[in-house]
Amino acid sequence: MANDLQRALRFFRPDRARIAFVFTLMLVNIALNLLKPWPLALIVDSVLGDKPVPAWIGSWAGGDCKSCLLIVFSLLTLGLHLLQGALGAWQNFLAIGVGLRGLQRVRNDVFACLQRLSLKFHHGAKSGDLIYRAAWDTFSFQTLFQQGLMTTASATCSLLLMVVVMWQLNLLLTLVALATVPLVVAAIKFFGKKMTERGAAAQQADSAVTSLVQQNIAALPLIQSYTREASEEEKFTAQTASAQEKRLAQHGWELIYWLAITAAFGLGTAAIVYLGATQVLGGKLTVGALLIFLAYLAQLYEPLNQLSHVGATLASARAGVKRVFEILDSHEEVKEAPNARRVQSSKFKVQSSKLSDSAVLTVDGAIRFENVSFRYQQEREILGGISFELKPGESAAIIGPSGVGKTTLMNLLPRFYDPTGGAVRLDGADLRELKLKDLREQIAVVLQEPILLPTTIAENIACGKPGATRDDIEAAARAANADAFIRKLPQGYDTQVGEGAARLSVGEKQRLNLARAFLKDAPILLLDEPTSALDAESEALVVASLNDLMKGRTVLMVAHRLSTIRRVTKIIVLENGRLAEMGSHEELLARGGYYTRVASGQVSLD
Ligand SMILES: Nc1ncnc2c1ncn2[C@@H]1O[C@H](COP(=O)(O)OP(=O)(O)O)[C@@H](O)[C@H]1O
Ligand SMILES: [Mg+2]
Repeated sequence: MANDLQRALRFFRPDRARIAFVFTLMLVNIALNLLKPWPLALIVDSVLGDKPVPAWIGSWAGGDCKSCLLIVFSLLTLGLHLLQGALGAWQNFLAIGVGLRGLQRVRNDVFACLQRLSLKFHHGAKSGDLIYRAAWDTFSFQTLFQQGLMTTASATCSLLLMVVVMWQLNLLLTLVALATVPLVVAAIKFFGKKMTERGAAAQQADSAVTSLVQQNIAALPLIQSYTREASEEEKFTAQTASAQEKRLAQHGWELIYWLAITAAFGLGTAAIVYLGATQVLGGKLTVGALLIFLAYLAQLYEPLNQLSHVGATLASARAGVKRVFEILDSHEEVKEAPNARRVQSSKFKVQSSKLSDSAVLTVDGAIRFENVSFRYQQEREILGGISFELKPGESAAIIGPSGVGKTTLMNLLPRFYDPTGGAVRLDGADLRELKLKDLREQIAVVLQEPILLPTTIAENIACGKPGATRDDIEAAARAANADAFIRKLPQGYDTQVGEGAARLSVGEKQRLNLARAFLKDAPILLLDEPTSALDAESEALVVASLNDLMKGRTVLMVAHRLSTIRRVTKIIVLENGRLAEMGSHEELLARGGYYTRVASGQVSLD
């Protein structure tokens, strides 16, 4: 628990020199703040009254000249206020800067971590929750630093210093001032809890309003077609009414709280005025000292109030920090070996320069599955005893009923997952011995649902090969039958895709994905039902360029069109997680098994 907080503060360590400086500023600032009432006290005692000025000021400000003293003390008051205000602003600015830089570090770490974690992690997590943690829970680190550390330190220091100075001035009045503290603390505790509870209830009601709006907008076609507007409005009105009541209750308690604090303050002030004035009359205290007391008393409650919130602040910051650490602590399932081998392609242009180290694996594109088994969860084996081999340039189609594990099998090649048993080899080397980035460079993937990044068309294609020229990109687009439609877009290759920008059809997106694969020019191609989401017309365009793309590469595909399946070297039939049949179209037809039923149309492929 405390460890989480300590660990969270480590994100601020790079700024420790700056933090030390902020603390120094803070101490100076507190001291200046405590000095603020002193010139007034001197005016009251020595200019208005008859008390001799302290010798060091007297010699400095012109001895007995009362109007000189008045000017000096007034200017001093102004100077103290300006200096303290300026230093306070500087200190806060620096502290906020440190807080924000810590926040930035945490966010970058979380993002890098989310990118590294395997698909298995992401399938198990709700993306909304991850987004919330990355975007909002990370603020807890900033809160922890600014409110948890800085405010606490500054409130504690000013409280202590104030009491010390008061003690020096007058013991009795200090005790009276301190006697009101338990009252204030009790008020803070009692009302603080009420305010937190009411605040949480109000927040929940507000968030219910927001999600109602969101849900209704999402369901608008339904609401309008069933003319449910009136009843939805009724529901919404009830929700806003409840939110309104809860907010009002929260503010009500806040006002009562301030009333209680004011009462305690009034009580303390009255007691000190009475006792102090009695002491002044008795000649035991100067009027100036009494004024200092009253000034300090007014300031005593602010640090108390701040300290009283620290518990709640820390508790909520701790919750956020913990949720962020849960992400940062998720271990990567797919790890790169410490002495992983580099990989390069023998004839494809995927890398720009050739490596000449003898340890480098030069890949022609031979794939071998050796007795591979895989399970997502311990209880259920998805794949078992899968063995097959593809020579460079050969192609295989994996077929089998929906959910049998076709996608899973393909995902083993780029190491989205590692097999639980057996090994997958590329040109003889176990994938786990290879540099992950190099391995993935050798593989181009086209999935059933095309994925685009929220950037321009050109960059979407180029993400297969960073640094590609515009000519390369356009050539790849032409090869993928995408050039024509791209040119018709408002900004051509520079059109932004994604929400609010160009809306592309699935067929067009798929051709962008193919262009990406063309540009990547990798020896191995993975196709997971790339044409199954397309209508007949765009399917024809995609299939034409797919055939070009496959030439000379080792291809592993999940396909649903018989015409495509027929053209591959090997057909692999999966049934119940096992390799049930394997061979060419003709060989499998002769066997009269699952594939024969597929080919004769008795079983349709998904
Ligand atoms: N991330 C995952 N976690 C747990 N189970 C999964 C995951 N992905 C797929 N599965 C399960 O594994 C089985 C094989 O899935 P998949 O490889 O997608 O099948 P196919 O592509 O042949 O339709 C299915 O039963 C599916 O429910
Ligand atoms: Mg699938």
